Parts: sequence; C-alpha cells; structure tokens
Amino acid sequence: MTTGFPSETLTLDNFTKVSKDELQALQLKRLQWTVQHAYQNVPMYRSKFDAAGVHPDDLKELSDIQKFPYTTKHDLRDNYPFGMFAVPMEQVARIHASSGTTGKPTVVGYTKGDLERWAEAVARSIMAAGGKPGDKVHVAYGYGLFTGGLGAHYGAERLGCTVIPMSGGQTEKQVQLIQDFKPDIIMVTPSYCLNIADEFERQGFDPRACSLRIGIFGAEPWTPAMRLEIEQRLGLDAVDIYGLSEVMGPGVAQEFVQTKDGPTIWEDMFYPETVHPETLQTVAEGEEGELVFTSLVKEAMPVIRYRTRDLTTLLPGSACTMRRMAKITGRSDDMMIIRGVNVFPTQIEEIILKIAALSPHYQIEISRDGNLDNLTVNVEARHNQVTEADRGAAAKELQHRIKVLIGVSTKINIKNEGEVARSQGKAQRVVDKRPK
Ligand code: DLL
Repeated sequence: MTTGFPSETLTLDNFTKVSKDELQALQLKRLQWTVQHAYQNVPMYRSKFDAAGVHPDDLKELSDIQKFPYTTKHDLRDNYPFGMFAVPMEQVARIHASSGTTGKPTVVGYTKGDLERWAEAVARSIMAAGGKPGDKVHVAYGYGLFTGGLGAHYGAERLGCTVIPMSGGQTEKQVQLIQDFKPDIIMVTPSYCLNIADEFERQGFDPRACSLRIGIFGAEPWTPAMRLEIEQRLGLDAVDIYGLSEVMGPGVAQEFVQTKDGPTIWEDMFYPETVHPETLQTVAEGEEGELVFTSLVKEAMPVIRYRTRDLTTLLPGSACTMRRMAKITGRSDDMMIIRGVNVFPTQIEEIILKIAALSPHYQIEISRDGNLDNLTVNVEARHNQVTEADRGAAAKELQHRIKVLIGVSTKINIKNEGEVARSQGKAQRVVDKRPK
C-alpha cells in the first residue's frame, strides 16, 4: 500500500481558520497521494488511467484532476463486492453498503484511520450546526449497513456529546425518549422528523415545547420551505448535512447554523467539482451541474472523480474559506420528464408548502395513458378538520401553480392524515407506475 496521506490535519479548533492558500496546498498534496494510491492498488483505476493515457505524475496542479477519468456507480457494481478496495482486507475495519433500488448493493470499506477521519468530519459538522461537547444527540438515522446512524454516532462521540443511538422507526418510542432524555440535537431525515412531530401531537404534546435546539437533517433532498415548516413546528434550528456512502457517508458537507446558506464542503477531505451531466464538461462556479468528488484522505476505498448524480451549484465560502454547495435540487436519476418538461420533486414540494391547507406529506405518481405520461400528486390535507370546500380549493390552487410555475398538468388527490406512505428514513417521493 502507498504509505499514509499527507498528515497535516486540520483540527476541530482550526478548520474554520485555514486560508485559501493553505487549503489549496493541502488539497494538492492529498490529491497527488490519492491518485497514486488508487493507481497502485486498484486494478480498475490502473486500467482506466492507462486507457485515458493519464498517469498520477501528470497531476501537478489542482486543475489537472480534470485529465482523469470519472468513476460511476457502475464501476462499483462491476467490482462488487471488494474490488474497489485499495488495502488488504485485514486492514479494512468496517464495511457499509447502500441498497440500490435493483440488484446488488454498493459496498464501501474503511480502515481504522478512515473511520477516525469520518468521525472528525461529522464532529466538525455537528459543531458547525451549533452543537458542542456535552450536548445530548438523539440519532434517528438508521443504524446498520446505511452510513447514517453509525456515521452520526461516532461523530457525536468524537465531539464529546452524549449519544442516544435510537436508530429509525418505533416512532412512539422516539417521542417518549425525546420527552424523557431531553436531547439538545436530533439527527434524522427531514421527512421522518415530520412523522415524529405528528406523533408528538398524536400523543397530546406540543413538539415546540420539546428540548431539541438543533436538527441536523439530510440523506434526502429537502427545500427551504421544508426548513421553515420544520423550524416552526419543532421550534429548533434546522440545518442541512450532506454526504454519500461512496465518498464517506454523512458529513461530506454541512451547513453552518449562523449562515444557513447551504452546506460547506469539508474541502480538505473531499475535492469537489461540478460538471455538465451530459457533456461532462466542467461548469463554472455559480452554475448548476452534477457534483463530482475525489476523496483526499481515504485509504480503504479512494474515489477518483466520483459522479454523485446530485445536482447543485458550487458557491464561495461564507462561514469559512471552504466552498459551499447550494441545497441539492435533486438527483439526475429523480428528474421526471413529463411531456418534455423536466420536473423535480423538490419543485413540487416548494409549491405544496405554500398552500396553508396542505401538509408536507406528499408522494408523486407517474403513470402512462397511451403514449403520454401523467403526473398525480397525492398530498395530505394539513388537518382532517379542513372542509371539503377548502380541499377542493387547495387542489385547484396546487394544480394551477404547478402548471404556471413548472409547466406540467397534474391530477391532485387530497388525502386524509396518514394516507400517504410515511418514511422511517429516506422518503420515497416518486412512484413510477408506468409499465416497464
Ligand atoms: O444518505 C448519507 C447520509 C446520511 C447523508 C445521513 C446525510 C445524513 P447514501 O445512502 O449513500 O448516503 O445516499 C446518498 O442521498 O447522493 C443524495 O442524493 C442524497 N442526499 C444525502 N444527503 C443529502 C442532502 C447517505 N443533505 C444520496 N440533501 C446522495 C439532498 C441528500 N440529498
């Protein structure tokens, strides 16, 4: 194995103070180490680099990364289960996997050192979110092969917090433990957080009165309108955490509570680029593109120019020098093309949440009628007390606004509370009922 990556490491005390020059010097050293390490130890990278006529020695400045080939989920699947690992198996301390919708899961591995650096990235994230040592952190991301639960867990421990490893599900118990243990912070998907808020009310409690001060929400797209909804219902600061298993897990980027202007990417650990999803040309900072990451400190499974499929815009740093990303619009895989119009679930979410009679529980169905695709939005009324007339008016308004703002015709079904499928983790926003 190539010996360890350049070790000048930013700490929890100084990561917000690094200058642009220091950061770029560190990124360059770590990029050079990473491409060498991948080339020497992963046959797939060696053959891809060779086929592209590029060698690790060609990486002389940061922009040279653009000469290297992309990596995709297919590469991970083709090398299932452990073919992407760059260290001998006895150095792999943990394995995680994300369940694809079809077929084999995507497998990732970590050395002991990788796990430490991941914990550091999540500890940093909790700090940026406004957390501090001594806070109690209720983790309601799922534990297991999913990176959410264990990733959040070790990060919170690293910061010196008290962790409540609740995991996802058992919604009644979530409420009981929040009431009894009085955590300061909750880490959970935004959609499941709303289910927990509903359960508070079902049990006769006001969620605003609970102890939670901060919510660290991620693992799925959520809109600024959803942030407002959650903040108002639970009386806390809601901030965005981003990450993906292939690159590490939660904690690749985190929004600072004082700015709430999109997640800051921990650029000393993950090198970001944005590219046009079809031409694959690099797009300029400030323009939307597909997010691509090269890992900078991963030993067990380095990734070179990994195409995340997530669409966002790179933005200059605000709370610190490291760059930010705008809230994810959606995954290119989630984009629905309805009669020629591109539609993301987040666009529909924004509109739903502006209509007072509608709740944030929604699901979109695509069906086919002859050659034409139809879109149906199933959304729950905010309270069952909403009258029939209110429902009719809300449905009309939603249909009209979607037509005007997005440009597609929809059928709207206003459902009763509890009638739209609830998530205990990542919400499934789109159900595709078209014949395969
Ligand atoms: O979802 C890791 C994670 C866990 C992130 C907990 C944050 C909190 P995967 O299961 O591999 O890993 O899914 C990664 O989820 O490519 C995005 O499409 C989506 N995603 C993750 N965070 C966000 C976010 C975890 N903050 C995929 N906003 C990513 C929008 C997100 N989408």
